[in-house]
Amino acid sequence: MRILGIESSCDETALAVVTKRDGRLMVEQNVLASQVAVHARTGGVVPEVAAREHIAHIFPLLEQIGVERSGAGIDAVAVTCGPGLVPALRVGVELGKSLSWTWGKPLVPVNHLEGHIYSVWLAEKTPVFPALCLLVSGGHTELVLMRNHGVYELLGMTRDDAAGEAFDKVAKLLGLPYPGGPEIARLALEGDPTAIHFPRPMMDSPNLDFSFSGLKTAVKVAWEGRAERAEIAASFQQAVVDTLVGKTLRAVGMTHPKCLILTGGVSANRLLRTTLERALQQADMKISFFAPELSLTGDNAVMIALAGAFRFEAGHMTDPLTLVADANLRLT
Ligand SMILES: Nc1ncnc2c1ncn2[C@@H]1O[C@H](COP(=O)(O)OP(=O)(O)OP(=O)(O)O)[C@@H](O)[C@H]1O
Ligand SMILES: [Mg+2]
Repeated sequence: MRILGIESSCDETALAVVTKRDGRLMVEQNVLASQVAVHARTGGVVPEVAAREHIAHIFPLLEQIGVERSGAGIDAVAVTCGPGLVPALRVGVELGKSLSWTWGKPLVPVNHLEGHIYSVWLAEKTPVFPALCLLVSGGHTELVLMRNHGVYELLGMTRDDAAGEAFDKVAKLLGLPYPGGPEIARLALEGDPTAIHFPRPMMDSPNLDFSFSGLKTAVKVAWEGRAERAEIAASFQQAVVDTLVGKTLRAVGMTHPKCLILTGGVSANRLLRTTLERALQQADMKISFFAPELSLTGDNAVMIALAGAFRFEAGHMTDPLTLVADANLRLT
C-alpha cells in the first residue's frame, strides 16, 4: 500500500508518500515548504498570505516527490480537510480532489489533529489501546482517549489559549521572534525555573480542562515589573509543563490507558517530554510513552499519510467532487 499525504492547514505546505511493507508503515518521501520566515514579519499567520504561499509551493513540491503523472503506484490520496485556516486548507484540499479525480484513486479526508496523533505510528513499536493522547499545538490543547483506530473521546480541552499559542504570545511580549515556543525553550536554559512563581491554571479544578490566558497576564505583570527575561521564560515554561503534566496524570488515573501519546508542535519541548516520561516511570504505572520524532512534531504530511493509511484500510473514503475544508472540524 502506498499513500500520498497532503497538508496545508496553516503555515507549512507539505507532501509525503508513506508505504506499508510487511505490516509496517514507512516514509518514502517527505517534503515541506515552511512559511515561518514570511509570517515572522507579521508576528503571526495571515490566512490569505498563507494561502498564497501554499499555491506557490505545492506544485514544485509535487514535482519534487516524483510521483508518476498517471498516479501509478499510489493507492490513495489523503488530505487534511480541517481544522485550520480555510484559505490555506483549500489549497491542499483542491489538489487532493484534482489528483484523486484524474488518477481515479480514492480520496481519504484526514483531520489534522488525528494526523498529529498518528505521527507516532512509524516506529517498530506502535501504541496499543486504550491510548491517552495529550495533543499540544499552536491551536489546540486537548486530552483525548483513543479507544481504537479512529475512535476518540474528548476528555478535556483549553478554555482559552492553546499551550503553543501561550508560548507564542509570551515570546512576543518578551520581544522574541515567532514562533515563540523554541525561543522560550532556548532562553529558559539560562534562567531559574523557580525564580518566579506563576500560577498553575485550573490545576485544582476537578475536570481535565486547561486555561492559559491568566498565565499570560501574570507574565505581563512580571515583565512590566522588570523581572529578568530568562527567569520569566524558565518560570513560565515550568508553569505550563507542570499544568500539562498534572492534568495528564489525573487523566491517566481516571482512564487507566495502556499507553500515553504526547503529540503536536509543543511536544518538541524537551522539558515537557522528559517531565511527562519521568512522571509515568515514577508512578510505576507500566504505561508506555510515545512522542513523535522531533522532525514530525510540527505540521507535516507524513502524519497525514499515516492517518490516511488507517482510514483507507477502514474504508473511509470520500467523494472527490464534494469534499470541503472545515475550519472547525472536530475529532469526536
Ligand atoms: N520547543 C518548543 N516548546 C514549546 N512550544 C513549541 C516548541 N516548538 C514548537 N512549539 C510550538 O508549537 C506550535 C506549533 O505547533 P503546530 O505546528 O502543531 O501547530 P498548528 O498546526 O499551528 O496548530 P494546530 O495543530 O492546533 O492546528 C507553536 O505554537 C510553537 O511555538
Ligand atoms: Mg498542527
